[in-house]
Amino acid sequence: MASSGPCVALINGEHCPLAEARVSVLDRGFLFADSVYEVIPVYDGRLFQLQAHLRRLQSSLDGIRLNNPHTDETWSELLNALVRANGSGDLALYLQVTRGAPAKREHRFPQDCRPTVVAFCQPRRNPSDAELEAGVSAIVREDDRWNRCDIKSTSLLPNVLASDEALTAGANEALLCRGDEVVEGASSNLFAVFGDTVVTPPLDHRVLPGITRDWVIGLAAQHAQPVTQRPVSRTELRQASELWLSSSTRELFPVTRLDDEPVGSGRAGTVWHQYRGWIQAALQSAS
Ligand SMILES: Cc1ncc(COP(=O)(O)O)c(C=O)c1O
Repeated sequence: MASSGPCVALINGEHCPLAEARVSVLDRGFLFADSVYEVIPVYDGRLFQLQAHLRRLQSSLDGIRLNNPHTDETWSELLNALVRANGSGDLALYLQVTRGAPAKREHRFPQDCRPTVVAFCQPRRNPSDAELEAGVSAIVREDDRWNRCDIKSTSLLPNVLASDEALTAGANEALLCRGDEVVEGASSNLFAVFGDTVVTPPLDHRVLPGITRDWVIGLAAQHAQPVTQRPVSRTELRQASELWLSSSTRELFPVTRLDDEPVGSGRAGTVWHQYRGWIQAALQSAS
């Protein structure tokens, strides 16, 4: 069958053209950001780390007291069928579950309202070696998000504003600080290298438990080089020899400029290269 490209959406169990996919204006996802989401990378038609994403989805749903509309088995069937309908290949699959569209707009939870389930795919491009080597730039700013950043909720306005601030400053990511601590990026987790030690901020209510973060920590442990999970201060951030961002769509990306100053050598560092090798080997063996 010819590849149709990523243009098919899933709305409450039904496929439809993405351009025609609609939800009600009364949907609580639209009105209150009363919803949670996941972004799952697809490598050559295979959903990567699906079980880990479904576990985090469950934890986000628990966090907003919304029942999971599907079992893991049904999720797997629905999402794999969506990937096939989108021609497989390298994709980023977006899925969102909202508290549904009741007849009336009011804050309190609706009774007997079916959650809305939406999913669609976008193309995902693997960065070139040259792009990785050059790395990206980041700015540092205050974190003005709520206190449940461990829930992957669609209340993303502070993240969107922080990303826009980064773009306006000619950077790619905003690193967010609470007081003196740097907690994560607007759409990524943070790793910092000090000498031979790789550090990442610990998980708590201020940090999304990134699937890639966890995967990278696991790979490092397999190679007997455990990552240290401890707070990173603003001052330390500027002393790191390497900084990296992790996310499902970007894997592990070097930050080579911070607030217009070079990080370390200003190129991808030696420790990152070592991790990159482990990541490529793991992706190869998973395919
Ligand atoms: C705020 C935030 N932190 C971290 C991440 C990285 O999470 P993951 O590795 O699960 O994509 C994301 C991903 O979008 C994010 O939005």
